Amino acid sequence: MTFNVENIRKDFPILERKINGKSLIYFDNAATSQTPISVIESISDYYKKYNANIHRGVHSVSEEATEAYESSRKKIQKHFNANFSEEIILTSGTTHSINIIANGYTDLLTSDDEIIVSGMEHHSNIVPWQMMVEKNHAKLSVIPLKENGELDIDHFKSIISEKTKIVFLNHVSNALGIINPIEEIIEISHRNGAVVLIDGAQSSAHFTIDLQKLDVDYFTASAHKLCGPTGIGFLYGKKNLLEKLTPLMGGGEMISDVTFEKTTYAELPHKFEAGTPNISGAIAFGYALDYINKIGLDNIYNYENELLNYATQSLKKIEGLKIYGDTNNKTSVISFNIENLHPYDIGSILDKFGIAVRTGQHCAQPIMDHFLISGTVRVSLSFINTKKEIDKLIEAINIAKTMLS
Ligand code: ALA
Repeated sequence: MTFNVENIRKDFPILERKINGKSLIYFDNAATSQTPISVIESISDYYKKYNANIHRGVHSVSEEATEAYESSRKKIQKHFNANFSEEIILTSGTTHSINIIANGYTDLLTSDDEIIVSGMEHHSNIVPWQMMVEKNHAKLSVIPLKENGELDIDHFKSIISEKTKIVFLNHVSNALGIINPIEEIIEISHRNGAVVLIDGAQSSAHFTIDLQKLDVDYFTASAHKLCGPTGIGFLYGKKNLLEKLTPLMGGGEMISDVTFEKTTYAELPHKFEAGTPNISGAIAFGYALDYINKIGLDNIYNYENELLNYATQSLKKIEGLKIYGDTNNKTSVISFNIENLHPYDIGSILDKFGIAVRTGQHCAQPIMDHFLISGTVRVSLSFINTKKEIDKLIEAINIAKTMLS
């Protein structure tokens, strides 16, 4: 498909909204992406035509719902090139997925083991592991950031050893937009016998991810960053690894046999999907991937890169503006501050112009601590944005500067 942003924007009803009398300019795509009409309609279609519980009924409506739910799993498998569909666990999102893995390793690790996290993580890839090490007393080490915000890979090489059991980090930083060298990290980790979990929440919307080629052990992403609904995402894990983990949640549909003496678990992927899942969300996730594939991730990548360069160059012309994590290997996110101004004040004034940005720590306090700041203004771009919107942002920032100075 030829990439035409004006045509694409017509698929997103929310872009017709006025905020404070101005057309909405949505630069908070890293927090949640906007939803095209085909995805919105897939949810109402489900409730209008085939709302039923899955994997349980012999009746036609339940069979239709089950088929649609399982077809989404296959779409995710295909989109991310996993080897088997049962390696795709449908979860409520990235946070849920990481908790499944951290919980699964609680009984497998001891105080002799070590785990390594990057210093660039969202709290969701820190706290579950801290909860884990409180129980098994494994040692948690951190890959520090270099002055420019990139990971210090030499330091990583110096701390990894045969004691390291898991390395976990994001593919792209939600707060900085830096793309981490995960291929190298996976290779080094495997050489040392460690497994790797990649948080793909901020990468999967922006470029193609091939799980088999990456040879990553665990990977997770959320649908709501991928034009899908909130409350649904997936966890990928290599089959032989997932089979060894104890499920986080017990309940219906995750069992093989239940007696009061002993319960045995169902096969993958159901072992990790206790209870009635987010059926409409899972189906809509499949539609969201269809939508993204119709546009084409290569087109998205090229267009978003063009926007990122344009926005970065335009912002750099503003006096007193400092970009954090201003490196070459980035996607879609620009985090900045303006001398003597509070990010919250800038964000509030931008909202008066209908411009949505995120301000604050972005759930990544260690990154803010690294730069000795309390927060930033974050502009996060997507393929629905335009250069004209970036021009309006620059104009509004200049007005905010005058108002606040
Ligand atoms: N993780 C999301 C963000 O970065 C919510 O804004």
